[in-house]
Amino acid sequence: MKSTKKLKIWGIITLLILLILWVKWDNWFYNPKEPIYQTDSSPSRILITCSGDFLTSRDITWQSDPDSHQGGVQLIDLSKPSDTTIINTDGKIIKTSGGSSAYFKINLKNLIPGSTYKYRVTNKSIFSQWAEFTIAQKNDQAYSFIYLGDVQDSINGHSSELFQKAFESQKEAAFIMFIGDMIERPHDAFWGEWFKAGGNRFRTTPILATPGNHEYYKGITQKLDERWTAHFSFPNNGPENFLGRAYYWDYQNTRFISIDTNGIQSIPSALEQRKWLKKVLETNHQKWTIVLMHHPLYSTSRGHDYVYLRTLFKSLFDRYKVDLVLAGHDHAYGRASSIPNSANSSKQGPIYIVAHASPKVYDIDFSNKMDKLASNTATYQLLHVTKDSINLSAFTAKGEYFDGFKLQKDSSGAKKVTIYTTKSDAKYLGPTKRFLQKNSKKELEKYDLEMQQWISKKSR
Ligand SMILES: [Fe+2]
Repeated sequence: MKSTKKLKIWGIITLLILLILWVKWDNWFYNPKEPIYQTDSSPSRILITCSGDFLTSRDITWQSDPDSHQGGVQLIDLSKPSDTTIINTDGKIIKTSGGSSAYFKINLKNLIPGSTYKYRVTNKSIFSQWAEFTIAQKNDQAYSFIYLGDVQDSINGHSSELFQKAFESQKEAAFIMFIGDMIERPHDAFWGEWFKAGGNRFRTTPILATPGNHEYYKGITQKLDERWTAHFSFPNNGPENFLGRAYYWDYQNTRFISIDTNGIQSIPSALEQRKWLKKVLETNHQKWTIVLMHHPLYSTSRGHDYVYLRTLFKSLFDRYKVDLVLAGHDHAYGRASSIPNSANSSKQGPIYIVAHASPKVYDIDFSNKMDKLASNTATYQLLHVTKDSINLSAFTAKGEYFDGFKLQKDSSGAKKVTIYTTKSDAKYLGPTKRFLQKNSKKELEKYDLEMQQWISKKSR
């Protein structure tokens, strides 16, 4: 009798697992076939980044057709235009199911702070256009950067309009930071779309990024698209199994730390990143600490919760007084700026931001943890860092100021947050098109009630 009952229970469990697998199969395991592509023989997708000291080095990466075995960078210091440096390198062929390309990476060292350089790249005697970049002076006073969340544009999409607005608003940015999911899926065409949207700015302002789940192939064990490591050249100071994905860099008075949240696929991978993060925070003597992670600790989306990330990282963020945590993934805007520091409840905890720059939008969750929310709203963020403060300003894709704050820290480490925001109302909080299509009138009324309650709580 007992064994029949057991058998029934196991039957129900098996059925449930099969049902979940059936519903989630595409989400978790299906990689659509990559369309056939061909890469041009002239150098393309040229990008500037930095894998070393920001005040003395830069890295240039680009691609060409698979028959381009060698490529080079011609570099000129504009203060000594007669001195031309030529650096050559061998290409690395990356073959995917849609085709293959040669990828090139060159590290420019011993650059002089305060100098402006121009460069061009070459394959098979075909030269790219010239591009210029300037190396900053050591200056603990002030600098700016741009932070962009998930892009995931469609082919011939509109992300270039939002990029241009952001780029125009911050012409002097020290770098442009992407929080993962720059592409919809690991296909050549989507990489092409992202580079097209970035245009020439990707050749002149260093790009820094943390990987998202869309740069990974789906599967039981997810694998990062090899083009990620080919296009980017980030500091090699991460944990052994996450090199070029989890890393940190110091710029002026700030330590920036990228955590590869999608790389956390097992307990050992989680512990490896946590152990590394602890060391990076322990040895940090910079005034400011900013963390980049694709999946957020505090979600803006319905049905999303990242308890495992809070379990892994929150105590470290609090103990080592991280100032700002920049995230994406949830395709909505969110600011959680009043979460206490659990290591010392009298202190201000990190400010958590979730943002996206995508045509895709998710339904928001009216969580009390969030102090600002927006659905249906792609944004770009401009940050300005000084020796005393960090200012963040979020703008909608139309260029309208939407949200922001000033975080101040005195010499004792005491922080003060001043919020500069717009009125929270139904204009930015309404349900997505998908929610309206999928839900009953009753569900919609419930949504409206939650929204009104959240607005009234947050307006107090
Ligand atoms: Fe994502």
